[in-house]
Amino acid sequence: MLQSRLLQRQRILPPETNAFRLITENEIWRGVSIDYLAGRYLVSLRNAELPAELRDCLLRREADSFVKFLDKEQKNAPAPLREPKQELLFHVTENGVRFILDMQSGYSQGLFIDQRDNRAHLRTLCHPGQTVLNLFAYTGAFSVCAALAGATTTTLDLAQPCLNRCKENMLLNGIDPELHFFCRGDALHWLSRFAKQNRHFHFIIMDPPTFSRDDKGNLWRAEKDYTALVRRASACLSPGGAMLCTTNSRRLSQEAFASLVRTGSPSTAHMESCPMPPDFSPENYLKTIWIHT
Ligand SMILES: C[S@@+](CC[C@H](N)C(=O)[O-])C[C@H]1O[C@@H](n2cnc3c(N)ncnc32)[C@H](O)[C@@H]1O
Repeated sequence: MLQSRLLQRQRILPPETNAFRLITENEIWRGVSIDYLAGRYLVSLRNAELPAELRDCLLRREADSFVKFLDKEQKNAPAPLREPKQELLFHVTENGVRFILDMQSGYSQGLFIDQRDNRAHLRTLCHPGQTVLNLFAYTGAFSVCAALAGATTTTLDLAQPCLNRCKENMLLNGIDPELHFFCRGDALHWLSRFAKQNRHFHFIIMDPPTFSRDDKGNLWRAEKDYTALVRRASACLSPGGAMLCTTNSRRLSQEAFASLVRTGSPSTAHMESCPMPPDFSPENYLKTIWIHT
């Protein structure tokens, strides 16, 4: 079963890509999805047990396998399925770009593979000399792609370890982090600061969590606050620039999200919605809107 699916994925995925969704949630087992990460299997369980049939199948394979619980209360790092200890820090490749994955790093492992097509699109849009502001950057995967296209990036996140990992991802791809900018802190606060400084960017990337707290403890929720975020980012966009707005909030429909984004965008902006990458079909939790001004 896993082998035939691997062959099918090879046919639909871009070249030099070894991190992808192998089995989508509920496709075979309720609440179970499987990602393939450079030869390893990461099983995610949402209010589900690891099916015995799948466990046996993974144990029969030579490959390392990990199991992670997506349930709200459990935010632990994935558990290795077998001993002796499996390799926990390794690299994956996506469209020829390399990223560090860390199976000890808690709930998220270093790369959101559902953003693959958006990263590839950013790389085709950016040109040398242009500027990219990557808000809520996590490990800076968008920044790496923009930097490879020759853009100068500003990578922003609340968490310093994320910024450090972004620099490591840049180095892994032959990019000098010293030629790029890094800001630690709250995205909305930094956007206000950039606007006051009259600082503009050709591209702004926004992939915020569904809810978060800023550095002062104030709560931010996608359903309530996305419009304000887009409005504030619009003030920092160069004329003719573009913004990427995404959310994986399962509470927001594509229409509701489009309405939030449209309300915050300049009235002349053109909005383009994009589907999830083909290996995630028929999952449609990630909503993507590119705003072109
Ligand atoms: C969903 S992840 C972003 C994924 C990233 N765009 C990518 O493609 O790899 C959310 C990130 O937002 C950061 N974050 C959460 N609240 C924030 C805030 N108020 N300001 C800036 N960053 C924040 C978190 O530290 C986390 O790294």
